Amino acid sequence: MLLPSIPLFLLFTFILILSATLLRRKDDRRRPPGPPGLPVIGNLHMLGKLPHRTLKTLAKRYGSIMTLRLGQVPTIVVSSSEAAEQFLKSHDLVFSSRPAIQASNYLSYGSKGLVISEYGAYWRNMRKICTMQLLTISKVDSFESLRKREMLLTVTSLEKAAKAGQVVDLSEVMHNLLEDIVYKMVLGCSKVSGFDLKGLIQRFMYLLGAFNLADHVPCLGALDLQGLKRSFKETSKALDQVLEKIIQEHESRSDVHDDRIHKDFIEILLSLIHQPMDSNDDQIHVVDRTNIKAVLLDIIVAAFETSAIVVEWALSELLKHPRVMKNLQDELDEVVGLNKLVEEADLAKLNYLDVVIKETLRLYPPGPLLPRESVEDAMVHGYFIEKKTKIIINLWAIGRDTKMWSDNAEEFYPERFTNNNFDYRGHDFQFIPFGFGRRGCPGMNLGLASVKLVVAQLVHCFCWELPSNTTPNELDMSEKSGFSIPRAKHLFAVPTYRLLKKAHEESC
Ligand code: HEM
Repeated sequence: MLLPSIPLFLLFTFILILSATLLRRKDDRRRPPGPPGLPVIGNLHMLGKLPHRTLKTLAKRYGSIMTLRLGQVPTIVVSSSEAAEQFLKSHDLVFSSRPAIQASNYLSYGSKGLVISEYGAYWRNMRKICTMQLLTISKVDSFESLRKREMLLTVTSLEKAAKAGQVVDLSEVMHNLLEDIVYKMVLGCSKVSGFDLKGLIQRFMYLLGAFNLADHVPCLGALDLQGLKRSFKETSKALDQVLEKIIQEHESRSDVHDDRIHKDFIEILLSLIHQPMDSNDDQIHVVDRTNIKAVLLDIIVAAFETSAIVVEWALSELLKHPRVMKNLQDELDEVVGLNKLVEEADLAKLNYLDVVIKETLRLYPPGPLLPRESVEDAMVHGYFIEKKTKIIINLWAIGRDTKMWSDNAEEFYPERFTNNNFDYRGHDFQFIPFGFGRRGCPGMNLGLASVKLVVAQLVHCFCWELPSNTTPNELDMSEKSGFSIPRAKHLFAVPTYRLLKKAHEESC
């Protein structure tokens, strides 16, 4: 009985020694510094309610490449432009994946979307379809009339509110406007009878952004202590039903396969169904209904939440800085004139608007903590970073780095962008609101078109005052955390119509 256990014992000892040696060898490699963590939860308890702020403070102590352990997940936090360039440009391929999250298994049909998919052939193919079929400049332009129509509806209703001297919930107005634009562009409709489409998608976004213990301490996942898994299942089932209904309605139309330029995104994707995503790829993926539904949801979230947040912060800062608001109105009066609404063709001539939007994106990047994951071991800046490490690029901290933006980094001062060549694509890593590299935002042109049009139009058509004698200095600018960082409290203001011609006359 004893004989077979001797070689087994020797083998076991050998494996132990070998793994100890390997582990020791790995430990010799220099890791980025970071604060000590607690058993099981690591540094999770240190993140606080607004992690982008806490991480910036921690980086002052531990450096711009810092190690944390979020539960069981080894994490590197990157907080300076030089370090971001190393991760996003010099080692673009290594850091081009996204960390898996439990929500995407349920809400994204098993990670069949684009935003949270891991790097690989499926993501590459899906991304190619989105960039070449849905998000080209000509596609973005083809929805100009939709944006114009929705904008006009909003301006007309605000004109009525102005006449009645009403206080307007600007956050809600901007939210609804961008929601309608995005839904109609992606799904062809913003309401589905028998379903609360908007409520469901809001729930979906809330769940995607919710802190989930199971993502950080996977062994607790099965216990579902926060009840999130149950919510994921319920929401994904309800969303699937509504998406099926929208798809079936599209399929039953006779004009799905015609060549109209302004097809909505569902129509475009349905015209590709059963076709290989890329016939040159070894692993042939075929477009099916699941892929279509997953990508549609991803695009709605990526397009709507980001644009709504930028517009909300831009208007907040303009209300807080009447000098900047006046400069912008002066530019609009000169370029567009008081006799008409802003057209998309005017946007390229509005240089001050451009710097106002850049300054808003610097201070309030809608994706403040950009998540990536390493696909292999790498050495960055002399530090060893293991495969499958989570990377967080703190765009929020980079935008407020006093070394790069001078001592007034916290101040809203659009003129800082007037004498330099910062573009939105992030060729200067000081300013990367759309990320960078192969995972960079493919919807930048669409996002900028919507954001610029909405801000320009609201500022051109109306003068805005804070309600109840609130002074600009008293405006509450606190933020709340989630998928992105929106205002904690809605923005309220009183409009006064300022154009010489009534808005509804534009449609005549
Ligand atoms: C002002 C508006 C927007 C901002 C600031 C923004 C910002 C970002 C950022 C920071 C990322 C991550 C990039 C990275 O990892 O390097 C991203 C990814 C993405 N964005 Fe945007 N975005 C905006 C609008 C849009 C719009 C309108 C769409 C689509 C209609 C869109 C679609 C996407 C998609 C699909 C991804 C994931 C790309 C991938 O992982 O391959 N975004 N966006």
